[in-house]
Amino acid sequence: MTPEKLISMAVEAMGKAYAPYSGFRVGAALLCSDGTIYTGCNIENAAYSPTNCAERTAIFKAVSEGRRDFTAIAVCGGKNGIIANLCTPCGVCRQVLREFCKDDFPVYLAHKDGFKALTLGDLLPYSFGEDSLK
Ligand code: THU
Repeated sequence: MTPEKLISMAVEAMGKAYAPYSGFRVGAALLCSDGTIYTGCNIENAAYSPTNCAERTAIFKAVSEGRRDFTAIAVCGGKNGIIANLCTPCGVCRQVLREFCKDDFPVYLAHKDGFKALTLGDLLPYSFGEDSLK
C-alpha cells in the first residue's frame, strides 16, 4: 500500500463528509497490518460538540471491528472539499491515535501538490499514554 493509494482512499472518504455547518470536509484512511483499510469522514451535528472528526470515525470503526494493528493513516481535508493546505489532525484525534499507535506511526497529510509524511511523535511529542499511568 503506497501513501498515494492511502491518500486516494482518504479523498474518496472525504466525499462522504457530513459538514453542513463548517463546510470543511475531511477524509481519513487507516491502514491495518494485513492491508485492510478503514475509512472515515467528519460527521457534524447541529449542537456542534457531538461532531466527530474523520480520523476518529476511521479509528472507531476499526476498533469496533476488533482491529488495533494500525500501520499508517492518511488524512485530507479542505473547505468545500478542496484540498489546499494540510489538514492536520486535531489534538483529540492525536491523543486517540496515541492509544493504539507508537511514536513512529506514519501520518500522511495531503496537500494540493502531494503529501507530507510525518509521524505521530512529530504531531504529539511528550505524549501521555498507558505507560504514564504506571
Ligand atoms: N475535523 C476533522 O474531521 N479532523 C480534524 O483533525 C480537524 C477537524 C473536522 C471537524 C469539523 O467537522 C470540521 O473539520 C471543522 O473543524
